[in-house]
Amino acid sequence: MTRRLTRNMVAAYLREIGIDYVLVPPRPGGETASTETPATAGGETLEEIRREILACRRCALCSGRSNVVFGVGNPRARLLFVGEGPGEEEDRQGEPFVGAAGRRLTQWIRRIGLARQDVYIANIVKCRPPGNRAPLPEEAAACLPYLRRQIRAIRPEVICTLGAVALNFLLGNNDRITRARGQWRDLDGIPLLPTYHPAYILRNATREHEVLADFDLLADRLRSG
Ligand code: URA
Repeated sequence: MTRRLTRNMVAAYLREIGIDYVLVPPRPGGETASTETPATAGGETLEEIRREILACRRCALCSGRSNVVFGVGNPRARLLFVGEGPGEEEDRQGEPFVGAAGRRLTQWIRRIGLARQDVYIANIVKCRPPGNRAPLPEEAAACLPYLRRQIRAIRPEVICTLGAVALNFLLGNNDRITRARGQWRDLDGIPLLPTYHPAYILRNATREHEVLADFDLLADRLRSG
């Protein structure tokens, strides 16, 4: 039996296999539908933002960096993770979450049926704070406009902050992560779920079940979206 595929069926299938594809209906008047992707539609691309950041000298962190750690993943990801800032290994490789904490994050992502390439991973600051300290408020303030532009370019359906630093700087609050985790927030209309940082879980393994529950919430939200 041959079955006719509708646009919605194709879109649902592409989403299922990790391709976040938006079918643009034809405009009134019979014009051909635009094939522009969400990452470029009416805004700047991640590549444009990356080029600007590579030359960034907005704060003192630039003087210690080996590499700018811009972000990695699918430019049209439905799910965006936001961490704190690059550590030693991330600074060396120029990619976020590639050390021990990153390996744990990758396991959590896989557990909900996704791969690192399906999601997007970025940080509050793009250059390594010395000695792995948390970013200072002035460093975060200098770098946050880049993250906000990345969010506008990616247009994720869901954001997950990893740890208190990402939560507090991105939402501009002082909420305690132990209370905030697992509770949905809103960032300019985008649902945001705070959870613990994987480095914290490496030191506090008994709390990992809370993160796994939070990842189940993320998966549920993506399924229903
Ligand atoms: N911790 C973070 O918050 N970000 C990274 O990229 C690596 C470790």
